[in-house]
Amino acid sequence: MNPSDTLSAPLLASGGRMLIGAEWREAVSGKRFPTINPATTEPLAEIAEGDAPDVDLAVQAARQAFEGPWGKMSAAERGKALWRLGDLILKHVDEIARLESLDAGKPIAETTRIDVPLTADVFHYYAGAATKLEGSTIPVSGPYFNYTLREPIGVVGLIVPWNFPLLIASRKVAPALAAGNTVVLKPAEESPLTALRLGELALEAGLPPGVINVVPGFGPTAGAALVAHPGVAGIAFTGETSTGQLIMQNGARTLKKVSLELGGKSANIVLDDADLEAASRAAMMAIFYNKGEVCTAGSRLLVAKGAREPLLEKVIERAAKLVQGDTLDPKTRLGPQISQAQVERIERYVAAGKKEGARLVLGGERAKVGDGRGYFWKPTIFDGVRNDMTIAREEIFGPVLSVIEVESFDDAIARANESMYGLAAAIWTSDVKKAHRAARALQAGTVWINTYNLYDAASPYGGTKASGFGRETGMAGLDFYTQTKSVWVDLG
Ligand code: NAI
Ligand code: MG
Repeated sequence: MNPSDTLSAPLLASGGRMLIGAEWREAVSGKRFPTINPATTEPLAEIAEGDAPDVDLAVQAARQAFEGPWGKMSAAERGKALWRLGDLILKHVDEIARLESLDAGKPIAETTRIDVPLTADVFHYYAGAATKLEGSTIPVSGPYFNYTLREPIGVVGLIVPWNFPLLIASRKVAPALAAGNTVVLKPAEESPLTALRLGELALEAGLPPGVINVVPGFGPTAGAALVAHPGVAGIAFTGETSTGQLIMQNGARTLKKVSLELGGKSANIVLDDADLEAASRAAMMAIFYNKGEVCTAGSRLLVAKGAREPLLEKVIERAAKLVQGDTLDPKTRLGPQISQAQVERIERYVAAGKKEGARLVLGGERAKVGDGRGYFWKPTIFDGVRNDMTIAREEIFGPVLSVIEVESFDDAIARANESMYGLAAAIWTSDVKKAHRAARALQAGTVWINTYNLYDAASPYGGTKASGFGRETGMAGLDFYTQTKSVWVDLG
């Protein structure tokens, strides 16, 4: 028995091995890597470390399932299997939430109420979608009948990050499977536990072996091998913009289809006719929810002159009250950043903010929680930020808010769009016309009006510009995982 099994046994019945077909296996290399609890920096488990040979085995297993039991199953049967998986996730909500909280530094109150139930929603939504994927009949010229089939693309590689490890994985796994594909899932090296748990539950739900394969490992090895593999038809990726660029480049050799959900620097606009009470609550959560490790984080608060002072006062007051602590404590609202690397990244950006003349009005340093070893950062707010400052241009991915004053509605829209990113945006106003004009004018995949950070399994989500392309969730989330075949019949 591997000594590290003792460590992982209480967390995963499968003992930190990877899932290939029906088998829980060690890596071909025999290597394992630790995953830690970012709240304490203690190791949680040793996980099998996948690389190219493991990816190759996983792709073979996925191909067999695609050509075999999964490919032969009716859409209704696939839908039922996905529904059972959704039910199993709900049945184990507390246990899965605990795993996610420990591994990714997320407060248990959030994983229990948000991450895990929303993951189940995604499986239930796509369970129903499997039988709604329809082709069409086309009025072509001549004595011919022409119709289309929407077919799966094959084996799909799914590469996911550590901020919503299970939820982001589900938004790729569920539509891929609903459409009849099979998958190889590579979780982030920082947070592999819930992906492996999903693999256990998939087998329990009766999904044929090989439909979901889980290969944990690092980006430049396991991730890159998946992108390079000629047997993989497409890669659905969420993560950093520069990694997305690399995936496009490396995928070009085998003409991979790619779907990219990348970074953001989302603008949250508050006009002076807004409900400032509601806007301040949302502005605070928009940046501090999940310690700012959210692709759609409202990291730029664009406030009309007249509203700036009262709004900022309320946001500071609320942010200062956020409870930082043990992620398993139900009172905790702000967990640790995922890693030392992320803390250092935040440190660099906070230094840049000060150097470029922004006014630090809250936080700006590490928070001491428990014995002080965890990666906690204090909620941080910079006032007097200009849109051309580094902290307003680049994705920090931490609890750092930039407050930018705007002159008018038009100025707000212009400043919001003056960004390489285009993931999400929000506007707070009581003027219906302005709200809907903004919805059209904002360059973003999602626009929220008098609200922030709403998601639903039924609603499409994705970015524009450097935030990527492709849509997840909703019926649009099936497009990437299907291809259209045109069929002609001679009637003459
Ligand atoms: P990353 O983009 O490097 O990692 C995301 C996933 O991609 C992980 O599973 C990783 O193993 C994989 N990966 C990395 N390099 C790869 C490669 N060459 N080929 C294939 N797969 C590869 O993000 P990272 O380094 O963990 O975080 C750095 C920054 O990225 C964060 O500070 C944040 O700004 C941004 N980020 C944005 C996310 C978003 O959802 N918008 C999510 C995660 C990170
Ligand atoms: Mg990386």
